[in-house]
Amino acid sequence: MELFDYSALCLQPFRNTLSFMFFTFTILFFLFSLLIFVLRLKPWCQCDACRSYLTFSWLKDFNNLCDWYTHLLAKSPTGTIHLHVLGNTITSNPGNVEYILKTRFDNYPKGKPFSVILGDLLGRGIFNVDGDSWEFQRKMACFELGSFNIKMYALELVTAEIRSRLIPLLSSAANKDNNILDLQDVFRRFSFDSICKFSFGLDPECLMLNLPVSKFATAFDLASKLSAERALAPSPIVWKIKRLLNIGSEKQLKGAINLVNELAETMIHQRQQMGFSKKNDLLSRFMASIDDDKYLRDIVVSFLLAGRDTVASGLTSFFWLLSQHPEVESAIRNESDKIMKPNQDLVSFEQLRELHYLNAAVYESMRLFPPVQFDSKFAQEDDILPDGTFVRKGTRVTYHPYAMGRMERIWGPDCLEFKPQRWLRNGRFVPENPFKYPVFQAGHRVCLGKDIALVEMKSVALAVVRKFNIRVSDPNQAPRFAPGLTATVRGGLPVMVQERGD
Ligand code: HEM
Ligand SMILES: *[C@@H]1O[C@H](CO)[C@@H](O)[C@H](O)[C@H]1NC(C)=O
Repeated sequence: MELFDYSALCLQPFRNTLSFMFFTFTILFFLFSLLIFVLRLKPWCQCDACRSYLTFSWLKDFNNLCDWYTHLLAKSPTGTIHLHVLGNTITSNPGNVEYILKTRFDNYPKGKPFSVILGDLLGRGIFNVDGDSWEFQRKMACFELGSFNIKMYALELVTAEIRSRLIPLLSSAANKDNNILDLQDVFRRFSFDSICKFSFGLDPECLMLNLPVSKFATAFDLASKLSAERALAPSPIVWKIKRLLNIGSEKQLKGAINLVNELAETMIHQRQQMGFSKKNDLLSRFMASIDDDKYLRDIVVSFLLAGRDTVASGLTSFFWLLSQHPEVESAIRNESDKIMKPNQDLVSFEQLRELHYLNAAVYESMRLFPPVQFDSKFAQEDDILPDGTFVRKGTRVTYHPYAMGRMERIWGPDCLEFKPQRWLRNGRFVPENPFKYPVFQAGHRVCLGKDIALVEMKSVALAVVRKFNIRVSDPNQAPRFAPGLTATVRGGLPVMVQERGD
């Protein structure tokens, strides 16, 4: 069999010359960009950190890049480092964090490099824009999400989801022998359903679509994963060329985004037909003031991305920590026994507010394992951070919640221990300065879903802890994270489930 049809070459000389030129052009363009990249990023920098980064020698001592950064930041007298090869200033200094996120907020936008990377998936959604468009969506979303109503609505949705899907799923796993369940996967499915209901007002399970939801969830996963991987490429030129030629991962990404769009459009049309004036979901709320379908799609997709993996990630590490700290699990049960009725699985809004220890345990687990491990901005002008670090115009500035949760100078000598009590004074929860704990970011762009996320995490955690014993298969295996926008554990969290009282 011939692998290549040579006759086609002769028959189409013109087309072929064109593609040859195109090919040559692409290669030249690629080499040129590589040169620019090499010149800009100083890969010749010979300082220890840069050498270690380039040769991957940090992998000898650390499981995860974030652990190595934590080590470097702890050693730095200012709590700030600069990785010359990346042109990236990374800080764990709360004074700097306040300065970047609040005092000089205007000088540290998300910036173009970030919005270009996520632009195909997120469009003009709140997560991906700066300036007027951000301000407009922020105002509207603040108004909608700030209301007591929407928190009640979120709790209702989550409660229904726990009762009808989560508990039955865990019970059936418990009744099989030797059945290992990936808890991370369970939480990802759970939070996907919840955020879809919350954002669109429609249950992805019972959508009247020809598109099975698993397909949508998969497309959404793939799209966010591939978008995040763009940021890992040595230079944006690489993925831009792939996108231009529609090959490899970029072709896959395009396909995934098309599926996401198809679903979002169906949701929007369905909502328009069903009427939206008396509905509680986000889409209906935004529909009342926006009638540009593409814009509505972008807004809602931002919420899906922001609200989905974060919650699943927070719950996964929470249960990993509980498995190593049975005393915390027992204290959560004891507290809830005082506030809830003996056979009550599902918690009410009023009860949630009284569960101070549970709240402390959730905050404490995200101190050690923040779902968003680091977050970057781009300096608009030359600047000097409060600790004296000089920041050059156009360079990337990163604050690092993961490292900050592990800094002795912020949390004291027991900073690496999982101790919910550190958040309690006389049994009551006392919040920390948000610039020391920027798990939800802080300042002008603080997470809009914080309260909703906490309601969701606490009600899931409580329902599971009260009804089941969860045993992590290998509790001593320290987590290894996969690259992505949100912390995800490689290989998931395999657990054994046992119903309590059995
Ligand atoms: C434990 C769960 C969560 C964590 C740790 C978290 C954390 C964060 C962080 C760090 C940011 C800043 C990202 C950036 O600017 O690059 C953010 C922004 C945001 N979050 Fe969350 N989030 C969580 C859950 C949620 C949920 C459930 C929702 C929606 C209901 C949500 C909606 C948003 C939105 C809309 C923004 C963008 C705000 C803006 O740009 O003005 N988040 N979140
Ligand atoms: C919870 O209550 C039980 C029974 O009263 C007690 O034995 C246990 O020590 C308590 N656990 C904690 C962490 O307070």
